[in-house]
Amino acid sequence: MGREIMLGKTKVIICQDKQEVARKSAAIFAQAIKNNPEIVLGLATGGTPVGMYKELIEMGKNKEVDFSKVKSFNLDEYAGLDASHPQSYRSFMNQNLFNHININKKNTHVPDGEASDCEQACRSYEEAIKGAGGIDLQLLGIGSNGHIAFNEPGSPKQSRTRKVGLTARTIDDNTRFFDSRDQVPTQAVTMGIATILEAKEIVLLATGANKSVAVAGAIKGPMDSCLPASFLQRHPACTFVVDKAAACEL
Ligand code: PGA
Repeated sequence: MGREIMLGKTKVIICQDKQEVARKSAAIFAQAIKNNPEIVLGLATGGTPVGMYKELIEMGKNKEVDFSKVKSFNLDEYAGLDASHPQSYRSFMNQNLFNHININKKNTHVPDGEASDCEQACRSYEEAIKGAGGIDLQLLGIGSNGHIAFNEPGSPKQSRTRKVGLTARTIDDNTRFFDSRDQVPTQAVTMGIATILEAKEIVLLATGANKSVAVAGAIKGPMDSCLPASFLQRHPACTFVVDKAAACEL
């Protein structure tokens, strides 16, 4: 299941379709949780991880995976959306994963998109990650423009958790989750590239031909802030799990 190749330091698992991406990535996360029940996970939102989360929910229901001691830190949150807003990333995580598994919600963290002192809240988020012992296994998606979390093109590799503006392309891509484009927030709070690269292990998921150019640039292109995912090339334990369509430019 899934053809594995090494490109530089990056392991690439090429799956037939998005269902196989979901199964393969869920198997990686399930095994990691079995190996270390107190694991600290970095989690992601967006359309891509939903299939993997469904698989993990099933494994939780079948008692194959116990999430009771797992801690999690999400990558990002829209600025200006209340956590209870249906399109907030806190709501997304509750609906797509946390409400359906035996994780302790007190152990789940999502950046505060509404903090009155945003800089302080960002520093506290970094400290909370460090206090938990750092992220053991980080899940990522990738934007069609090569962003990781909301680190848009131009984001420096030393960046840490901070408030950022979203590019027009990201706003276009995310309009499908809102009633109209003008409802999509234009800013977000995101872990930085340096924050992400400190994770001990990283798994990036990508499906569909619209991600193929970003995936190829991330793995084989020059390491450059114009394609933030390219900084993953320097990580010693990064795996891309992609479908054939997303792998077609490799
Ligand atoms: P998507 O988003 O999974 O909704 O395509 C991925 C991302 O922007 O990181």
